[in-house]
Order: sequence, then structure tokens, then C-alpha cells
Amino acid sequence: MPSDTPAKAGLEDIVVASSSICYLDGERGVLAYRGHDIHDLAERATFEDVCHLLWHGRLPNRAELGELQSQLAEARPLPEGLLRLMRSIPPTNSMDSLRTLTSALAHYDSGANDSSPEGRYRTSVKLTAQLGSIVATSARIAAGGAPVAPDPALSHAANFLYLLKGTRPTALETRALDVALVLHADHEFNASTFAARVAAATLTDVYSAITAAIGALKGPLHGGANTDVMNLLLQIGEDASDARVEEIVRGKLAKKEKIPGFGHRVYRTEDPRATHLRRMSEELSRLSGHPRWFQMSRVIEQVVQREKKLNANVDFYSATTYYALGIPVDVFTPVFAVSRISGWTAHVLEQYSNNRLIRPRAEYTGPAYPQQVDRH
Ligand SMILES: CC(C)(COP(=O)(O)OP(=O)(O)OC[C@H]1O[C@@H](n2cnc3c(N)ncnc32)[C@H](O)[C@@H]1OP(=O)(O)O)[C@@H](O)C(=O)NCCC(=O)NCCS
Repeated sequence: MPSDTPAKAGLEDIVVASSSICYLDGERGVLAYRGHDIHDLAERATFEDVCHLLWHGRLPNRAELGELQSQLAEARPLPEGLLRLMRSIPPTNSMDSLRTLTSALAHYDSGANDSSPEGRYRTSVKLTAQLGSIVATSARIAAGGAPVAPDPALSHAANFLYLLKGTRPTALETRALDVALVLHADHEFNASTFAARVAAATLTDVYSAITAAIGALKGPLHGGANTDVMNLLLQIGEDASDARVEEIVRGKLAKKEKIPGFGHRVYRTEDPRATHLRRMSEELSRLSGHPRWFQMSRVIEQVVQREKKLNANVDFYSATTYYALGIPVDVFTPVFAVSRISGWTAHVLEQYSNNRLIRPRAEYTGPAYPQQVDRH
């Protein structure tokens, strides 16, 4: 018999499984991957280090890092058939393309349904490498450019920017994206990770679980918020005065509209990822010659904090950070996926390693049982 306790909307504060991957303390604003504080990782680790940390439980030594870098580099080129599909699907939302193309990748992988731990790990590395290639190459094709071949000598972040723009990024651009990838890599049982784990718990394949996660990430309450933040800023316009920015935000709050990039289900204090992204947004906006985007963001942040006591989340300052890096607005949410694939796959591998089907119950609120069939 299911418990008599009423259902908790949105499963708020409900612990649904145990996991050794991500520690999150919403009261104190602590986020740690495998025990490593996010502030340390943001300052001292690369995205590749974090992939190893999430998948293997510890940071890599030099040889292990070299091996992982080679595996990622080897997997980055996309199958010719996938590039043809990429060119042929009608342009829509870039998350729709990412979802379709990730799902299609399985058709080009003879090991897609290999359910051995080694096979699933191989798929995890491959997907992590190829999501970056899919997102950057799709964006480049959408902008009318020709696909660029990955450069095996580049890091994951640098290669992403290279495939996107066709020119090799500066050290500053590379480090900025790398830090953003580190910050977005995992976040405990967020909606997309939970979706991936629910799918994996049926013992479906890794591609299917990741496709489910991408569908969940697209939503404006989750990863879609970073695109909405930039669209809001663009709508307000770079020339708007601080007073005008404040007036617009107050107007939205008065109409009970949500301001994208604020609020969080778990954090009751500043999202530790926002601290780094705020700093990067300030520096990159200034260097790109458009400091106004950051200054306007500060005004919005102050108004929302004052009026609603809500803090900026990971999506708020990642928007202006990506914009200053020259990443198209429509590609912001896919960039989230380029990082989060590391966390999704770590969770999926953990789920497979100690699996039980995830099948909760509902609190029934429909018509009383039994109803009679009466068609007259
Ligand atoms: C993240 C989020 C989905 C968390 O949702 P939640 O825990 O279910 O919280 P709720 O949506 O129930 O919000 C609680 C209250 O705060 C308000 N609120 C939450 N986020 C808000 C926002 N971004 N702007 C204005 N008000 C907000 C709600 O309107 C609600 O107010 P009420 O009690 O007067 O009705 C929510 O804060 C949100 O929609 N944020 C904007 C989208 C976003 O940035 N998503 C990325 C998350 S990392």
C-alpha cells in the first residue's frame, strides 16, 4: 500500500535515492563534486579533470588525464551521416536539434546497446566529446558557415569555440568557457539528471537516457532560463538607463511575472556558481566593449533581491558571459548540455551500477471508485 502522506508538489526536499557524486547544501550555499568544493574546482581544475572526477570519483593523475584527453579528442569528429542529417533537418529551436541529433548518434554507434559497464562508460566518453561537436557545428551551419574539423591538440573548451567560430580562441576565452563548463557539470538531482536516472533505471541504453535529459533541460524553469535572461536584456536594450531597467523589472514583478535567472529550489543563499559567473561576466563584458550588459544585470539583480529576496542562479550571469564570448543566444542552453553531459553520464553510470526500477506512486484525486459505464 502507498503511504497516506499527501504528495509533495515538485518532490520538494524529498530524498529519492542515495548518490556519491554531488554534495549540495542549499542553506550554506555549498556545492561539491565528489567532496571537492566548486570554488576550488573553478579555480584549479579543467573540464576534463572534472569529467574524470565525476566518472571515477577522484581527480586524474597526469597519465589518466592524458588518456582521457586522447579518448575525447578521438571521439570528437561526427559521423558523415549525422552531418548530413544536421544540414537537412528544418531549423527550429537549437535544443530540438540537439535532442534529435543526440538520439540519432546511436544509429552510428555499433556499441550503443552494449550494456556492459565498459560499454556504457565508452558511450559516456563518446557522448561527452560529441555533444560539444554537435552544438558547435549545428550553430556554425545555422549561421551559414562550413563545418570545421576538430583539432585534437585543443582542450574541450577551446575546441568548442574553434568549431563554433572557425578561429582559435584566446587563452582568456578558453579559460572563461572552461570555468563555465566546470561550474555547470553536475548539480545533484536536478530535473534533467533525475529524468536521465529514471530512464536508465528501466535499463534502457545511455543514448536514450541522455535524450530524456536533454528534453528536460530545454524547459524555461531549468536550462532554458539562460537564453531567456539574454533575451530579456536584449529586449530592454543596451541603451536603457538604470532607471528604465529598474522600471521594467518592477513592472514585470508587479504583474507576477518571473524574472529568468533568479530563484532556486534548493539554494536559500547565493548560488556558489553565480559568484564566479558574475565576476566573469563583468570582466568579459568590459573586454568585449559592451560593459552595459553586465551593469544592467547588476541593476536587475539588485531590484529582484530587494523586491523578492531572490538570488541570482547559475543561469543569470552565464547569459552575459556567453554573450561576451560571441556565443549565439539560441545556443546558450545547448552549451549547458555540453557541460552537464558529464554529470548526466556519471549519474546514469551510478544508477546502472546499483539499479532498482524507479516507480513511485500517485496520490489519487480522481472520481470515486467504482464508476458505472452509462452512455445515456
Ligand atoms: C527555479 C524555480 C523554477 C524554482 O521554483 P520553485 O522552487 O518551484 O519556486 P516557485 O516557482 O514556487 O516560487 C516561489 C515563489 O517565488 C516566486 N519566484 C520564484 N522565482 C521567481 C523569479 N525568478 N522571479 C520572480 N518571482 C519568482 C514565485 O512567483 C513564488 O511566489 P509566490 O509564493 O508569491 O507565488 C523558480 O525560481 C523559477 O521559475 N525561476 C526562474 C527560472 C530560472 O531561472 N530557472 C533556472 C533555475 S537554475
